[in-house]
Amino acid sequence: MSADVKAFEALRDRCARCRACGLSSVRTKSVFGVGPLDAEIMLVGEGPGQQEDLTGEPFVGAAGKLLDDMLSIIDLGRDNCYIANIVKCRPPGNRDPMPQEQDACIGYLTEQIRLIQPKIIICLGRISAQRLIHESFRITREHGTWTEQNGVWYTAIYHPSALLRDPSKRPETFRDLLSIRERVREVCERTY
Ligand code: URA
Repeated sequence: MSADVKAFEALRDRCARCRACGLSSVRTKSVFGVGPLDAEIMLVGEGPGQQEDLTGEPFVGAAGKLLDDMLSIIDLGRDNCYIANIVKCRPPGNRDPMPQEQDACIGYLTEQIRLIQPKIIICLGRISAQRLIHESFRITREHGTWTEQNGVWYTAIYHPSALLRDPSKRPETFRDLLSIRERVREVCERTY
């Protein structure tokens, strides 16, 4: 069943006007998220970078291109995944979003998840995994592991920016992607 479109649009409007933290005063555009509202899979990054701030779309820079390539390996893409971030406005200089900025913003993501009702949430990188899976999540040790919370399956993979910086992590990520494909086959009904 597709999400409540009106509620989703109201949330997007609220996010575009949000002034809940200091990031709002330095943003060009807030980056709410993209993808079908009936997606069974959500991908959650950390926060917008420079290209995303300018365009209002998540993962459009170099990391986004790699993310698209990673998804295509397992026959996924922007047409069947919803892509969002923990914080919707760009942290200056691409620093990590601070805890109070995450706290101010997380309600938007929680509401997106409630409306979309995905079967699988894939955290991209440590910040997302620590916020959505558990707060001491160690991405180097725990990437590719699965936990179920309230009927939703969660996993984390290395952030595409980390894979651009350190290509030696790519074989592990390839294995994680294959494990995601297995889980999609098991719990998703409309994706493949
Ligand atoms: N990195 C993220 O975590 N999110 C984006 O949207 C782009 C880069």
